[in-house]
Amino acid sequence: MNLLILYESCTGNTEFAVDVIRRTMEQDGHTCEMRRFRDSGFDGLMGFDLYCFATPVQSFAPLASVYRFIKAMPKLPGRPAFIITTAAGWPGVAHRMMASALRRKGMSVLGAHMLACPDSWPIGRRIDRHFYDHVTFPRKRSIKKLQAFAVEMVNKAYRHREGIKVKQAPFILWPTLTLPLGFFAVRGMLSRGFGKRTVNAEACTKCGICVETCPVGAVSLNGNDGLPVFSNDCIGCWACFNNCPERAILSSACRPEHYYHGLDG
Ligand SMILES: Cc1cc2nc3c(=O)[nH]c(=O)nc-3n(C[C@H](O)[C@H](O)[C@H](O)COP(=O)(O)O)c2cc1C
Repeated sequence: MNLLILYESCTGNTEFAVDVIRRTMEQDGHTCEMRRFRDSGFDGLMGFDLYCFATPVQSFAPLASVYRFIKAMPKLPGRPAFIITTAAGWPGVAHRMMASALRRKGMSVLGAHMLACPDSWPIGRRIDRHFYDHVTFPRKRSIKKLQAFAVEMVNKAYRHREGIKVKQAPFILWPTLTLPLGFFAVRGMLSRGFGKRTVNAEACTKCGICVETCPVGAVSLNGNDGLPVFSNDCIGCWACFNNCPERAILSSACRPEHYYHGLDG
């Protein structure tokens, strides 16, 4: 089976998740191509047997840039797809939004799975840093579940190809407590949770990592002396903060010890 994985990742968790899927697929003899949404155009989307769409959850919804891509991409009628999200644990309406957008493109959505990786959200670390500094995410058990899910998706795709009716993802809206928040979450609202953003001019080396890691191109090195500046397109993903090697990007809402430096950091 020939799989195309389209993914976006701000701090590396979703990239990690899709890499687990890629390795699982390749071990089973399938071919797998990974493309980042921000680097991918709409050319060459046809011709795959199975599609994986992967996104971090933000404000109980898929990443805004991922959702925009899916809404704008050409139709892929009848093609089987599945959804991967990584989230702190409350995907809200993310799976349902992704599934509806893919169905509008004529795709058959075979399933959706969330890998719990809560520790990259600075607000969570701020609330309980001790916990996040001592528990490693994602847990081994949840990685195994992710691998099993990928295998299940391939089996379903084979059945789908043979014309056997496969159960499509029902997308139960869970967990119920966060559902109202999902419905009422105003996109982009979390970017205001940053408080006031400043750049420590002495610490900043203008390396451009903040520009590179911003999934929506909201950071550029156009400020005084080439320092980073942030546009209103910012979606509040904290990627620039989390990835700054010098900890030069400061927020009045968060202290440097709350920063997350990726799964390896
Ligand atoms: C601004 C922001 C908003 C988030 N909103 C949610 C949310 O609504 N529900 C949730 O479960 N996790 C939420 N998270 C946690 C991320 O989904 C989680 O850390 C994810 O694994 C990040 O993936 P990435 O490393 O690929 O960017 C949020 C994180 C950030 C930075």
